[in-house]
Amino acid sequence: MSRRLPVSSRHLADGGNIHSAGSLRAKTRSFLVLYGGLLVGGTMLLIIHSLQGSDTPIIDRDAASKFEGDGASCTPEVIKALPVLNKVYGNGMHKVLHVGPDSCSVVAEILKEEDAEAWGVEPYDLDDAGANCKRFVRKGIVRVANIKFPLPYQARSFSTVLVSDVPDYLSTRYLNKTIPEFARVAAHGVVIFTGMPSHERAKVADLSRFGRPAKLRSSSWWVRFLIQGGLEENESAKTKFELASRTESYNPGCQVFHLKSRDNNNDIAQF
Ligand SMILES: *[C@@H]1O[C@H](CO)[C@@H](O)[C@H](O)[C@H]1NC(C)=O
Ligand SMILES: *[C@@H]1O[C@H](CO)[C@@H](O)[C@H](O)[C@H]1NC(C)=O
Repeated sequence: MSRRLPVSSRHLADGGNIHSAGSLRAKTRSFLVLYGGLLVGGTMLLIIHSLQGSDTPIIDRDAASKFEGDGASCTPEVIKALPVLNKVYGNGMHKVLHVGPDSCSVVAEILKEEDAEAWGVEPYDLDDAGANCKRFVRKGIVRVANIKFPLPYQARSFSTVLVSDVPDYLSTRYLNKTIPEFARVAAHGVVIFTGMPSHERAKVADLSRFGRPAKLRSSSWWVRFLIQGGLEENESAKTKFELASRTESYNPGCQVFHLKSRDNNNDIAQF
């Protein structure tokens, strides 16, 4: 019926006003069709987007421990590197945030030090974590959080932020948001432990079963990424770390990057 509207309005062309009323109705109709189409298309895009958004790096605990058991995680590396980091950052290691799988293990280790404070952000589900870990979660010391969202802490809440593994599971799009977040909540610096690309084969084989293989980037990729994002490496920390690693006989099994905190960068820019 509606298809005939323009025809009937042409019949009534003499009526002038009626003609324009008919074409207006036709225009309104095609606008509604177009708008409806956009609405449906937009809704589909939104659905696709939210599906992608929920594509979190959270994998089940079994998968994570299998993965760590194979020596592919950098979290045990953070623990091994703590004596070296204490030498490099000194007082800066007294208020630490660790972000990465098995965060409870890093927090527990740091808390063994006198006067040290430590918090953790755990990207994996902790359903079958041990009693100590559950206690950390209950006290809010360790939080399970999706690191694709802003960290629930104010700027410069911690002296140093230690990060393991999580950057290996993020696309550049999310890295662009997440790495600056680490720099924002750190007052002294950010230390990032990422997988070595030479271990790629083992790591990808381990994780392909879980549908989300790690993306291990080369050190030149990281350096370029950091420069493009305006994130500065702390050269003095890097040099001290290499020296202290030698004296502590620590041989890093992961790539280690030392970033300056965001606010420090701003201070330098303002002077
Ligand atoms: C990430 O940020 C860099 C530099 O700011 C930019 O060149 C690049 O296109 C961004 N990548 C994505 C995927 O957003
Ligand atoms: C660079 O690292 C040193 C430790 O070697 C630390 O004391 C200093 O605060 C860091 N500087 C910045 C700007 O983050």
